[in-house]
Amino acid sequence: MQFLKTILISLLAPVFFLDAYSQNHASNEGGKTKGILLTGQLAPRPPMGFNTWNTFQTKINEGMLREMVDVFVSSGMRDAGYQYFVLDDGWMAMERDQNGSLAADPVKFPHGMKAFADYVHSRGLKFGIYNCAGSRTCAGYPGTRGHEYEDARLYASWGVDFLKYDWCNTDSLNAPEAYKTMSAALRATGRPIVFSICEWGNHAPWLWAGGVGELYRTTGDIGASFIIPKTTGDWTPQTVISILDKQESIRQYNGPNHWNDPDMLEVGNGMSYEEDKSHFSLWCMLAAPLAAGNDLRNMSAQTRGILTNKEMIAVDQDSLGISAFKMNLPDSLEVWIKPLQNRELALCFLNRTTSEKKINLDWKNFAITDPRSGLDIRFDKQTYNIRDLWLKKNSGTTEKNFEQYIPTHAVIVLKLETMVH
Ligand code: GLA
Repeated sequence: MQFLKTILISLLAPVFFLDAYSQNHASNEGGKTKGILLTGQLAPRPPMGFNTWNTFQTKINEGMLREMVDVFVSSGMRDAGYQYFVLDDGWMAMERDQNGSLAADPVKFPHGMKAFADYVHSRGLKFGIYNCAGSRTCAGYPGTRGHEYEDARLYASWGVDFLKYDWCNTDSLNAPEAYKTMSAALRATGRPIVFSICEWGNHAPWLWAGGVGELYRTTGDIGASFIIPKTTGDWTPQTVISILDKQESIRQYNGPNHWNDPDMLEVGNGMSYEEDKSHFSLWCMLAAPLAAGNDLRNMSAQTRGILTNKEMIAVDQDSLGISAFKMNLPDSLEVWIKPLQNRELALCFLNRTTSEKKINLDWKNFAITDPRSGLDIRFDKQTYNIRDLWLKKNSGTTEKNFEQYIPTHAVIVLKLETMVH
């Protein structure tokens, strides 16, 4: 027996070896690499990860980032599906070096960027970085304009897996052309690098960014506020609700490998527990990329519980990749509906008002139709099991009215599961 096993292994080993070799050394002709997927095709599900910007802006350094990478793993974020560890603006030296190359800030990253990328990879994560299509980044560091191919090669040599590419200081640049150039530069490296387009929805990227990058911002920058905008100096970021309200009209453009990106998460950054839960749930309903933006090292158990709710994450990551649509309910309530695989669906009741409300839904008089997904449900004809994704328990069927109080700025998320007969 042992003898046969040994023969089998020695016969098969070269096959496995050759396969691994050809994947790693796929030929790259005219931007098309045989055997591996390249930029534009790399995110069949909305990418999940962490990004430094929302909490740290440019105040980052290798020491604290290594701690963050460790907590990314020990807190259960990696096991919950988060994958990309992304450095936003502020990682660079203020000028290119004498050869015109970008360099990591030597004070912030004394061991250089390759060493940090290796650290991220050694923890089973993927590594992401940031730059800008303009002459300078939004925070004033050297931009990529005119250096697209050399910057892409540098990133590939460091082992970069994800590039967020911003839109400051671009003067008269043409957005689709600028993003297509950088996408081609990434492809030419032969390394699979997810391309995150960040021109804030200014040039309707949902119409041209599919195939160029995997995700594209649809809106301006988010702040940690739910519905009332908070102004700091002359800057007023978007709120969770103002962003949400801009997503429904572009939902038909969302899908595998071309995700509408309503910006990174502000969970754990100062909103109330209910607001954080609503923000996270709504982003999952939108099939949005999920980039945690809080200090992972000191997140509360509640914040961690929100970010790692696997049943909620499964809604975000559903293979159909369909974004939710809204139906208005009585008493200023609303429900967002997301078709899921196997003819199941997620319902997210939202109370955006300032007082507690009561939901009383008579399923029998409720029907859902969605031309985008072909969904056509009459609850008087079909009964579903109800799973509450925050209480994490089954909650009867659609045969009985659904009655529940919903606090201000809160959500209730139900998964309607097909009954097994
Ligand atoms: C822009 C982007 C943000 C962030 C900053 C960095 O505002 O939209 O997400 O990357 O630049 O300067």
